[in-house]
Amino acid sequence: MEIQLWRELLDPYQLAVDELVVKFNHVITEHRSRGLYSPIESVEGRLKSIVSILDKMKRKNVSMNDIEKKIEDIAGLRINCQFVEDIDRVVKLIKQRTDMKVKCEKDYIRHMKASGYRSYHMIIEYKVNTVKGEKTLSAEIQIRTMAMNFWATIEHSLQYKYKENIPDYIQKKLIDASQAIVEIDKAMSDVRDEIMDAQNSHQKKENLVKDILNNIQNLYRVANKREVTKIQDEFYKVYVMDDMMQLQHFASQLDIISEGYRAQSLT
Ligand code: GTP
Ligand code: MG
Repeated sequence: MEIQLWRELLDPYQLAVDELVVKFNHVITEHRSRGLYSPIESVEGRLKSIVSILDKMKRKNVSMNDIEKKIEDIAGLRINCQFVEDIDRVVKLIKQRTDMKVKCEKDYIRHMKASGYRSYHMIIEYKVNTVKGEKTLSAEIQIRTMAMNFWATIEHSLQYKYKENIPDYIQKKLIDASQAIVEIDKAMSDVRDEIMDAQNSHQKKENLVKDILNNIQNLYRVANKREVTKIQDEFYKVYVMDDMMQLQHFASQLDIISEGYRAQSLT
């Protein structure tokens, strides 16, 4: 196939990767801006390289005409979660979406691979619009914890080095390490509620401070500057108390003041 044709083949997949990364990042933002815990910690996307496609074609005996049908991970997404429990939440969230259809699922978490690999895989059908019109294509989503990702990333580089013939003693070490990851994930799950609480209250504080500063900024345009400076000093005094209740109280007082100015500007 000519280079130009490869580009034509891959372009819609690049678009799918770009769109999906934006969409899953938005899931994170939506949660956080509402002060909610996001089951997605981070998302990465990649387009399979031509060399990887060629290697897979050879390995799986796929002809040029069958690339799009038989190679389902040309567009690849990886969703990293903090806790194992988050993975099922992400799976559910994906299944509820109307802009992607789940074609196939593999649960390598409940059924770990012989290598020690753990992840939840989904193949989805996704529609993109290019200058050539609408196109439905497949994309692979791998969902895993950050600890599972750590293991998979390192194991993957060893696969490269040994071309799938990893020596037995290393393979054994990797399986042991994978078991250790299971333990780490369990230990983290045990303190999940505590960690989530801490992260949520941090996020709530961030959101509240953002609201307060926004309000002060707006007041600065309409109110007496000296008064606004006083409010700003007051804010800092409350802030250093490190007491959410006080901060919330300050925010609602500020809301009342701002409301007053808004009413004034209307009359
Ligand atoms: P390929 O493995 O891609 O040929 O497809 P498959 O039909 O076997 O699907 P599978 O779900 O097993 O693997 C899809 C992808 O998951 C791979 O391309 C890898 O990115 C990842 N993966 C699967 N098994 C392993 C593993 O043992 N180690 C690592 N690091 N990644 C794996
Ligand atoms: Mg495989």
